[in-house]
Amino acid sequence: MARRAIVAANWKMNGGLALVNTIVSGLTSVKLQDNVDVVICPSFPFLSELTSQITENKLNEAIHVGAQNVSAHESGAYTGEISTQMLQELSVKFVIIGHSERRSYYNETSVEVADKISATLKAGLTPILCIGESESERAEEQTEKVLASQLQPVIDEVGIESFANIVIAYEPVWAIGTGKTASSEMAQETHKFIRQFLAKANANVAAKISLLYGGSVNASNCEELFAQADIDGGLIGGASLQVEQFKQICSTAKGK
Ligand code: PGA
Repeated sequence: MARRAIVAANWKMNGGLALVNTIVSGLTSVKLQDNVDVVICPSFPFLSELTSQITENKLNEAIHVGAQNVSAHESGAYTGEISTQMLQELSVKFVIIGHSERRSYYNETSVEVADKISATLKAGLTPILCIGESESERAEEQTEKVLASQLQPVIDEVGIESFANIVIAYEPVWAIGTGKTASSEMAQETHKFIRQFLAKANANVAAKISLLYGGSVNASNCEELFAQADIDGGLIGGASLQVEQFKQICSTAKGK
């Protein structure tokens, strides 16, 4: 069984042309292990420049461009939205969907998230589906229930077989941007739950899906996290804005 590791950089609303230049020149010398994909997700205005620079600088073919969000609609009167087709035109390969910041600040529901996943899959792009519990939900031992309630609408809408083309990022909300990482044991236990939950619907799909951990991952804690049996890489926020640190995280990941 070969499972790819993925290291995805979520720049959020940070960085611009200068960071595109810095990251591309930094990644020209990155050493990646076997079966690893790196995905850089800048804000929409910089997708095109990032794609061009990756090609011009002949970066490793395992380095891809991703978006941080997408519309569930194909086209039409949706002011301010970006469609999957527009992303395809820019050679985007991955789309982060359902990040906790979108769920909490923009009221995205799990049903809307499922619609976006469906649109993304139809366009042949790979969604990175983000799920995770809040601090109070963890304290109330609701973590598994919350994760199940975030996964089930997607399974219902696109079918479990489609998870062969989905990546999941487990990000406990309390660990995002706080410096409070889940312990590697806690992260592993939750990743194992997610894999087992999917396995109830389709064991083969569950065994092959890449499950990423996100939430204050950095160059010091990534090795231990990535060594866990069910953790196949990470979704990196703050540390992805620092090129040397991000390179080290990328070099640490390897497929399982
Ligand atoms: P962080 O963000 O690494 O800054 O905690 C991760 C994320 O929100 O994807």
